[in-house]
Parts: sequence; C-alpha cells; structure tokens
Amino acid sequence: MGEDSNPKLELDDIQSGVLRPRPTPYVATYIAFRIDDRKAGRELMRRVARVVTSADSPTSPLADTWVSVALTYEGFKALGVPQDSLDSFSWEFRQGMAARADELGDTGESAPENWEKPLGTGDVHVVLVAVSPDEGRLEAALEPARQTYRQLSGVEAIWRQNCHALPTETEPFGFRDGISHPAIEGSGVPGSNPKERPLKAGEFVLGYADELGGVQKTVPEVLGRNGTYVVFRKLRQRVAEFRRYLKANANGPEDEELLAAKMMGRWRSGAPLALCPFHDDPALGEDPRRNNDFLFRDDDAAGFKTPAGSHIRRMNPRDAQIAGVARIHRMIRRGTAYGPPLPEGVLEDDGADRGLMFAFVGAHIGRQFEFVQSQWVNDGVFFGAGEDRDPITGSGGGPGAFTAPRRPVRRRIQGIPQFVVTRGGEYCFMPGLRALKWLSDLQT
Ligand code: HEM
Repeated sequence: MGEDSNPKLELDDIQSGVLRPRPTPYVATYIAFRIDDRKAGRELMRRVARVVTSADSPTSPLADTWVSVALTYEGFKALGVPQDSLDSFSWEFRQGMAARADELGDTGESAPENWEKPLGTGDVHVVLVAVSPDEGRLEAALEPARQTYRQLSGVEAIWRQNCHALPTETEPFGFRDGISHPAIEGSGVPGSNPKERPLKAGEFVLGYADELGGVQKTVPEVLGRNGTYVVFRKLRQRVAEFRRYLKANANGPEDEELLAAKMMGRWRSGAPLALCPFHDDPALGEDPRRNNDFLFRDDDAAGFKTPAGSHIRRMNPRDAQIAGVARIHRMIRRGTAYGPPLPEGVLEDDGADRGLMFAFVGAHIGRQFEFVQSQWVNDGVFFGAGEDRDPITGSGGGPGAFTAPRRPVRRRIQGIPQFVVTRGGEYCFMPGLRALKWLSDLQT
C-alpha cells in the first residue's frame, strides 16, 4: 500500500495505445486471433512486440500506423501462462465479458448467444488494434504483418472489424465524440477538463498507487506492471430509430435538437449544455480548451442545464452530489464508428449494421467499467431517479424513461426504446512491452 504513491510512469514500457490520443481523422482495424499452438502463440507475441510502440516513442516502426496488442484470459491460458500468474489477474477479467452478461445488461437481443461469432465464445485469444490516418496507409502497414502471421501455423486470424473516425469526430447518432478524457498523473497527456485534478496513475496502469492507495501487482510482477485492462464492445446503434424517436417526442426540428442535447448533455456539435444551455454553439463544441471546462455542483446542482440522467452526466457526474465517489469510476475511452453512416434525414432503417467499437481502458474492470455500465447506465438510483436508464445507451429490458428538469414543469419522456444493442465484446489485458517479452519467452 502506498509504497510508490507518486511515481513517474514508465512510459517506455507502456503500450502507446493506452495513453496516446488518436489522430483525426483516422481508420482503425481490430483483428482477433485464436492460438491453437502455444509455441506459435509465443512467436506471435515476439513478432507483434517488434511493431508495438511505447508511450514515449515519437515514431512507429510502421510509419503512420500504430499497433497495440491485448490478450484475453483464454489467450493467456493458450500461451501456457502458469496458474499462479493467471490467478493474479482480476476476477472479472478471468470470468470474461460473456459470463458477466447479466451484470452488464447484455440480455435479450444483446445476450451472448446472439453475439457475432467468435466474440464471447472463448476463441478470441489475442486482439490486435492498428490505427492509421487512412485506409491506404493502414493496409500498406498491415500487409507484411499479414504475411507474418499466415506463415505461423497454430495461430489463426478469426475476426476483423474495420472502423473509422470522421474529420468531424461524430459517432453514428451524430454527436461529436472523443471530447472528455481524464488527466493522469505522470502521463504527460493533459486532461480535457482544467477543473479536474489529475487521477492517480494506478487508476489506469497496474503497478502504481491508485485513488484508494492500492497498488495492483501480478505474479510475476513484470507480467502486469505497466499493463492495463481493455474492454472492447461492438455496439450496434439504431440510428433511424433514434431519429424517429426524437421526431415523435419533440415539437419541431429545433426542439428535436434540444431533446437530443438533453439526452446526451451536449449538443451534437459537442458544445456542452453546461456552458450553453439554450442554443448550440458549434465554435465552442470544437474548441478543446473550452468544451470540457465545467463542473456541475455549484452551477447546476438540480440539472436544469445538464440533466442528471443525461449520458455525459451519468457517465461522469464530476462534482455533482451522488451516492458514491465519481473519481473511482473514471475511464479512458476510445469510440470508433463502424459501418456506413446513415445519410442525413433518413428515418427508415436500411438494415446496415452500424455503430461504435467502444473501448474502455482502465486498471479496474469491476469498479470502473462494470460499475458504470450496471449502476450508472442501467439504473438511476445513484442520483435519485429510480429505475431510469441512460437514454442513449441504456439496456436490459423494457422501455426506459428520462427526465429533463425544467421550470415550471419538468420534461419527462417515456417509452424510450433500446437504441444500442451489444453485438459482442471481450475483456482483455494490454501488457507492457517487457511483459510481451516475458510472454514470448515462456518455456514448456
Ligand atoms: C453506442 C453507445 C454510446 C454512444 C453513442 C456514446 C456517445 C458519447 C458521446 C457523444 C459522448 C460525449 C463526448 C465526449 O465527452 O467524449 C460520450 C461521453 C462519454 N461516454 Fe459514451 N457513448 C456510448 C456508450 C458508452 C458506454 C457503454 C460507456 C461506459 C460504460 C460510455 C462512457 C462515456 C464516458 C465516461 C463519457 C465521458 C463523460 C464525461 O466525462 O463528460 N459511453 N459518449
């Protein structure tokens, strides 16, 4: 406890994908591998380690393409990681995402039996993520990598998902994404909210003190140190249904935008209701120095500007009065759109699969990702709203309801359908660079 309470982060050992903000715009691809032969799996680790860069490296061996690699618990087993090492990882990680479906609200359509295979089957062992400014450069960088793993018998690429971030950085519902991210002590990456005190490094990277003074260690220490948990979720977004719902519940186009903003807590431009509650302000929305510079308690305790039930206030209540402490439930997020955008104005579903590849990065799957997903997304008790769910991404049975406080009477909308369906996902661990070497050097 507390032995290294304010250390310098070992950036040369942390994978760049953990801390480095992604370029804009960019394309990304997720490739999942199954390991059928542990020696081949270790060789894969050795080869991948050559192209993974550390958080302090200004350049990548693949030019403009940056690669990160993560493993599931089943992946660690497939590599032959000894049992005492396996047991030293977090309980939720060892269970895997599919086993946690009830807690996460992955029921009905979102239940693991309906997931896109091979997600959640136990076959996904390694997940490689490559990020590049455009498709041409991504494919050019991946081609030699492809040759490499094709030559390795005993390792199979079993799934791939391409995604993209538009220049406007909007997600499929049309809101600017990628705005709010936490400041982390010693990371060198500034946070987006000047009013937020940086979080202890141990909230995001293993081996350092966290907000509660604990230091997570694995057996041996090198395996976990400078690594972090990564949660991938493929989330289908029902864009046409979202648009139709707004239309049916608003009085004209301007009110539709206001309702959408109340549900999100930001206008589609990214401008926060906290700073411009009545009208959109696109210049504010795209200004990274101002668009996250706010708190809730003193300015808007009752949620007249940003409803307590809106997506961003649920996901990060900041200093608002809630049951619990917001700081221990923070996360690094990377959301990247997949599928063709639904052309503007279209209200009928075209049947295409589109949504977000959501990625969580943090040192505590349980009290960060799972807590937020179960208590803050799918419940409203923490701020006194009973069973209300997140109006954007709430799940887990039956239609939802949402309240926007207003004078003289609040605005309450009911019958909110589920706009987001889980298509699958995995709990992974993204090891440090020395740990990748440790994995590739495993014997027997
Ligand atoms: C398809 C589903 C989702 C969509 C469309 C979505 C969209 C957004 C958008 C537009 C923002 C505001 C921009 C920003 O601050 O970066 C945001 C913020 C955020 N979202 Fe989501 N989100 C989704 C699912 C989730 C899930 C499942 C979680 C966590 C379990 C989550 C956690 C967060 C957090 C922590 C923030 C930042 C809040 C803040 O600090 O103000 N989101 N999301």
